[in-house]
Amino acid sequence: MRITIFGTGYVGLVTGACLADVGHDVLCMDVDADKIARLEQGEIPIFEPGLEGLVKENVAAGRLRFTTDPAAAVAFATLQFIAVGTPPDEDGSADLQYVLAVAETIGRHMADDKVIVDKSTVPVGTADRVRERVAAMLESRGEALAFDVCSNPEFLKEGAAINDFTHGARIVVGTDSERVKRLMRECYAPYIRQQEKLMFMDVRSAELTKYAANAMLATKISFMNEIANLAERLGADVEQVRLGIGSDPRIGYQFIYPGCGYGGSCFPKDVQALARTAGQVGYRAELLTAVEAVNQRQKRSLYTKLEQAFDGELAGKTIALWGLAFKPDTDDMRDAPSRTLMEALWQAGATVRAYDPQAMKECRRLYGERDDLLLAGDRIQAVKGADALVICTEWKDFRAVDFDWLKAQLATPVVVDGRNLYDPALVRQAGLLYYAVGRGESL
Ligand code: UGA
Repeated sequence: MRITIFGTGYVGLVTGACLADVGHDVLCMDVDADKIARLEQGEIPIFEPGLEGLVKENVAAGRLRFTTDPAAAVAFATLQFIAVGTPPDEDGSADLQYVLAVAETIGRHMADDKVIVDKSTVPVGTADRVRERVAAMLESRGEALAFDVCSNPEFLKEGAAINDFTHGARIVVGTDSERVKRLMRECYAPYIRQQEKLMFMDVRSAELTKYAANAMLATKISFMNEIANLAERLGADVEQVRLGIGSDPRIGYQFIYPGCGYGGSCFPKDVQALARTAGQVGYRAELLTAVEAVNQRQKRSLYTKLEQAFDGELAGKTIALWGLAFKPDTDDMRDAPSRTLMEALWQAGATVRAYDPQAMKECRRLYGERDDLLLAGDRIQAVKGADALVICTEWKDFRAVDFDWLKAQLATPVVVDGRNLYDPALVRQAGLLYYAVGRGESL
């Protein structure tokens, strides 16, 4: 089957590579000529385990190709996936300019009937706007071609995107057209051989499903962070509470890890966008607003703990930071808790000495050269002589630590653990002051 994908960002590239890998003939289109040139050389602009190999293999097999030519992209296939970015506006709602620009491109160049598949995360009602945009373009050309617009949200986690694509829990398709159902079934057939995963529903429900899934997961995290903050004040251990409640299958163990707040390009943006959509239809989404507010406070909590450990005297201190990415196995620092911490530390006059297995380049790109940002070659260099260590990301490289060694490295024995990686008793045994998340004695 031939498939066109607009956008070679995270979602577009993973989707394109995975669909090519099961034998489809995929053409990925992007307006960024430099990016396309690099992709053609097998250079992947993002870090995602397994993606580089998958792209190279499928390019070599001739099943995955790239272009900057919109006319060629539109002409290539009946199925036209839109997988471009929907960054937040100043007011938190999703900015649809790139999605609608693709709709216009399709309307401008199409010469036969098309099925337009919305894969970008877009507010409820966007399929209607895409439809209007394509129709207006066709009308201006004096053409009366048939086309459908369906919603097919993605549920990929960074760091596990390929597995999520190939072994995801469900494939949601929002459409009321039998033809679209048939084509989408054909497109995803290789993934549904073992188990029926295709869920057809109306377009608006599919669009809302995407936001509801992310908002639900973000709610679980903020809820646990709230319980952690309570546990700290009540002398309880949230890690025990986590096991205690997770064992109830109605609650489950997943996404109830307390920490220093959720980051990334999805949860923060999607929770705000859904609250914003609610406002537009006259509904005050109190829970969503609270989920976001709890998360903001949680991201600030690492700094609050340092302030407490140093009685507010952070000027002139050097703080070692392990983990810059918003989660392990990615170099993505969008809305990462590490950024909230670094920016607060700089404001207080402290220096950050950071190490991350993947996100160092990204950190430099974001903040440039500055005297109060030192990038260490490894986790050991980061802590040598520092006044405290803060852990922001649970990379596996940080899990096993000789605490006596760590104590000897630090000028002041302060460890702030935003991911609850260690057994508090062991850390404290080494004479370190250990500030974890919601673990009783940390206050
Ligand atoms: C998330 C969803 O999990 C995907 O299903 C969805 O497709 C994707 O957004 C998207 O909309 O594109 P992602 O942002 O890549 O995926 O990462 P997650 O693994 O969900 O983690 C998000 C944040 O929550 C991270 O900062 C992580 O540290 C934090 N988190 C996660 C917790 O603090 N506690 C947990 O128990 C789980």
